[in-house]
Amino acid sequence: MAPAKNHKKKSSLKSSVSSSSIDRGPKRRFQNRLLKWYGEFGRDLPWRRTSDPYRILVSEVMLQQTQVDRVVPKYHEFLGKYPTLLDLAAAKPDDVRKAWYPLGYNVRPYRLHSIACEAVEKYGSTIPRDPAQLQSMKGIGRYTAGAVRSFAFNEDAPILDTNVMRVLHRVFLGNGDPKKKTSRLWAMSEELIPKGKGYDFNQALMDFGAVVCTARKPYCLFCPMRDFCQAFPVEIK
Ligand code: ADE
Repeated sequence: MAPAKNHKKKSSLKSSVSSSSIDRGPKRRFQNRLLKWYGEFGRDLPWRRTSDPYRILVSEVMLQQTQVDRVVPKYHEFLGKYPTLLDLAAAKPDDVRKAWYPLGYNVRPYRLHSIACEAVEKYGSTIPRDPAQLQSMKGIGRYTAGAVRSFAFNEDAPILDTNVMRVLHRVFLGNGDPKKKTSRLWAMSEELIPKGKGYDFNQALMDFGAVVCTARKPYCLFCPMRDFCQAFPVEIK
């Protein structure tokens, strides 16, 4: 999924303190129902079976521009070739590009390779968990940093990609263009995470946007949020 573009340059590491203030009732309802839905319908995806930050980073870079079903086989194949951060850092960039094929956007394998080299040289062969360090690396924006922090390090870090933007905008702000509300939606994404549950909550948001609150034909009649969703019934243009 395409990460939500940050209005500002990457260097401006906003801590999302801008207020979103969601009312307590809808906030609790959303949290509880999303986690319950995820418990029943969450997808079993390979990067959810590991806590290795390197593997999670690989999956997130692959998922930046490519659909889940195309990523799954390549994720296994790529990690078969480069099972560790050190293996990837030691590879030739052009071999990494070949191993990436046929996933598009060819700048991504080069960036992933250079992230691996930087992690080896600067961070003792580990993926850093600090958001500023993560976002200082080309190829890791605010979304990917949040994903790595929550999925690899279990932090309550917010994420916002196009799916999450759509879900939060519809449920709390109604129909309209989520791109016009990017900073407010980042604040919401942060405020909504139930303490200590960033991992499940963020994975659930991803799945909910991909499976129920879809862009073109959302499954509103099966949606556990429909009684308080500000966009229900959703208008599709
Ligand atoms: N897209 C980006 N990250 C994802 C994840 N962890 N699960 C499903 N889809 C995603």
